[in-house]
Amino acid sequence: MMFQDNLRNVYRFFRGWRWWKIKILSRLHGSTIKTGIGSYILSPSVSIRVQPGARLILGRDVCLRAYTSIHVLESVEIGDDTLIAEMVTIRDHDHNMLTDDPRPYRKQGFISAPIRIGQNVWLGNKVTITKGINIGDNSVVAANAVVTKDVEPNVLVGGVPARIIKKLRD
Ligand SMILES: CC(C)(COP(=O)(O)OP(=O)(O)OC[C@H]1O[C@@H](n2cnc3c(N)ncnc32)[C@H](O)[C@@H]1OP(=O)(O)O)[C@@H](O)C(=O)NCCC(=O)NCCS
Repeated sequence: MMFQDNLRNVYRFFRGWRWWKIKILSRLHGSTIKTGIGSYILSPSVSIRVQPGARLILGRDVCLRAYTSIHVLESVEIGDDTLIAEMVTIRDHDHNMLTDDPRPYRKQGFISAPIRIGQNVWLGNKVTITKGINIGDNSVVAANAVVTKDVEPNVLVGGVPARIIKKLRD
């Protein structure tokens, strides 16, 4: 039952888009996509890739707006009611940059670490979330920020790299 419920939610999430392709690829590759009811993608320009063995878990009522991309090599979790604006980039991995490896960076493989974004988080336009980041519940990331360190709950952060601008609630 739980499995069927999730399939229905994943269908709703990708509805009107290439959801079937994602679902089939995801199954073939052995990756996991789970979404809570009410989560949705606002535009076909959204790019979601979940690699074999990786997992993308979205809570309820998560909203992804146009040109946002989420590419997962290991794990990305996004909590209930989180709002992700346009052109946001979420990547749980980087290319390796080994100086003692003669191969170009693009052939050196990846380094990854899971990302966890809490509940009721708002990521503004063009925000970038890098690998291994945790963002606490009720926090807001201002437009254009690059988040390179964990964000505590209930704060507004902004800038490159993102730093606390103010506390939003106690
Ligand atoms: C952060 C934001 C929400 C404004 O929040 P606010 O509480 O009204 O903040 P203020 O405008 O009072 O600014 C507070 C401080 O943060 C700074 N700040 C505001 N936005 C910032 C940003 N994107 N990056 C860096 N600093 C920013 C202000 O300059 C100000 O600094 P100061 O105290 O030194 O003067 C807004 O600037 C923003 O980034 N909105 C995102 C818009 C968006 O992506 N919309 C998509 C809809 S889904």
